[in-house]
Amino acid sequence: MFTSRHCYLSAKLATVSRNSSLKVNFGRASISASLPRTPLRRSMASTTLQNHASLVEFGQKHVTHGLGRSVEAVMTKGEGSYVFLGDGRRLLDFSAGIGVTNLGHCHPKVSGAAAAQCMNIVHAQCSIAFAEPYLHLIEKLLPMMPDPSLDSFFFWNSGSEAIEAAIKMARVITGKQNIIAMQGGYHGRTFGAMAVTKSKTVYSEGFHPLMPGVYTLPYPYWHHHALPPSTSVDELTKLSLHQLSLLLAQQTAPRDTAAILIEPVMGEGGYIPAPPAFLKGVREICDKEGILLIIDEVQSGFGRTGKNFAIEHSGVRPDIMTIAKGLANGFPLSGVVSKKEYTDKLKPGSMGGTYAGNAVACAAACAVADVFREEKILDNVNARSEELFTALNALRTNPATKEAILDVRGKGLMVAVEFASPKGTGPYDPFTKPNVPEKLASKIAKRCQEKGLLILTTSVYEVIRFIPPLNISKEELAEGTKIFAEAVEEVVKGI
Ligand SMILES: Cc1ncc(COP(=O)(O)O)c(C=O)c1O
Repeated sequence: MFTSRHCYLSAKLATVSRNSSLKVNFGRASISASLPRTPLRRSMASTTLQNHASLVEFGQKHVTHGLGRSVEAVMTKGEGSYVFLGDGRRLLDFSAGIGVTNLGHCHPKVSGAAAAQCMNIVHAQCSIAFAEPYLHLIEKLLPMMPDPSLDSFFFWNSGSEAIEAAIKMARVITGKQNIIAMQGGYHGRTFGAMAVTKSKTVYSEGFHPLMPGVYTLPYPYWHHHALPPSTSVDELTKLSLHQLSLLLAQQTAPRDTAAILIEPVMGEGGYIPAPPAFLKGVREICDKEGILLIIDEVQSGFGRTGKNFAIEHSGVRPDIMTIAKGLANGFPLSGVVSKKEYTDKLKPGSMGGTYAGNAVACAAACAVADVFREEKILDNVNARSEELFTALNALRTNPATKEAILDVRGKGLMVAVEFASPKGTGPYDPFTKPNVPEKLASKIAKRCQEKGLLILTTSVYEVIRFIPPLNISKEELAEGTKIFAEAVEEVVKGI
C-alpha cells in the first residue's frame, strides 16, 4: 500500500555515526557495516568552489561540451520522488534519471545493500571468479524472465554495452552479419549501439563511418508512415510488416540477416508502444527465416510498463534481451540474457569487461528485485498509470489546450504527450498546425521546472515523456500532473 509518502520514508534512513559505523534500518531488516575512519564528506572549504554558482560555472568550463543538460545546476541530493539542487530548489522528479531510479532516489534497502556489499568486496572481477551477488541476482531474475528459455546471463555496466554484446552474440550465434533496427530506435552511443540508433542524427553526426550492415525499418508509428495520429494500430502494423518483407526482399536477404532489434515501447523515439500484432508478426518472420529477435528492455523493463518486461504485453519470446536502467536503481549495471544453447556458442573470453557485473551494483539489483515483490510495485504502476492517463486525456478535452495536443500514449508509467508544431520536421511534414506556438515541448518542460517539476522531452517531435518513479504516491503524481496541466495551459496561451 502506498500512502502520501513513500512507505520507506517511514523507515529509519541510513545514519552514519561519528564513530564510523553505518547502520541502515528498513522495516524489520537491518544492515550494519563498519566504515573506515575518514571524513565522510570532503569539506567544501578544501576547494575554492564554495558556492553553487561557482560550481556551475566550473562545470560549464571544464565538463565536455559534448554533454547536454536539462538543468544548469548541481544535483546535491535525491530522496524518494524528489531531487534537491545546490541553489536550494526541490524538484518533483518525473525523469527518474531517465528511467533509472524506479524505486525513487536512495531507496534505503537498495542503498543499504550496496553499502553492505562495499564492506565485503567491491571488485570481484568476473573473468577471475564468480561473485556471490552476481549469482544471487541471476537466481532472482530467472523467475522474472518473460520466457523460461532466457536462462543465460552476462552483466555489463551500461545499456549501450548490453547492446554491443547483443549484436556480437547475434553474429556469432547465427554466423550472419546484418542487423535490422527500427527508425526512431535508440540503443546508445558506443560504436555498435550508435549504428543501430535511429532516433536523432545528433548521436552519429560527424562520427561516420558507422558499423556497417545495419538496415532500418519504419516503426509502427503514424509519423513514420506519414499518416494521421488517429490511424489504427492494425493499419500501422500491416504497413510496418509489409516494409519488413520488402526490406528482406530488396536490401538484406534473410541469409545475411542476423537479427531484428526492437524496443517493445520505443523510448527516445517518442514513447510509442509496439502493437502486439506487430511484435508477433516480426517473431513469425524471424522463426521462418532463421533471424534472431533482440528485444531491448533497457528503458521499458523492470516494471516500467506495468509488467516486469514490456514484451510480456505481447506474449512474444525474445531470443536475446537487453536490460539496464531500473535493474539496479542507479548503480551502473546492464545485462544481456539469452538461452544457454545459444550462449554456449560463445568462446570463453569473447565476452567480458573489467568492471562488468560489479558486485556492489549486483547487490543493489538483488535488493531492487526484493523490493519489487515486497512493495507490490507493479500494482502501484497500474494504479498510478490510470490516474496519469486520466489527467493527460483531460488536456485533450480542455478547450484551452486540446488544439495543441496530437497524441497521449504509452504503457504503465512510460507515457508521453505529443504536442503539435507549426513547422513539424520540415516542409513536407503533413501534420503541422500553423496556429500553435513553436517548440511547445521544451517550453512546457522549462515552465514545469520553474514550477517545481523535473520532466523531460524526447524525440525529434514535440514530445514530453513521463517516467516518474514506479513507487510514486497518488499525491505526488497528482502534484506533478497539476503542475504539468498548468504549464501546458500557460505556454499554449502564451502567458
Ligand atoms: C532502449 C535503450 N537502449 C539502450 C540505451 C543505452 O543505455 P545507456 O545510456 O546506459 O548506454 C538506452 C538509454 O537511454 C535506451 O533507452
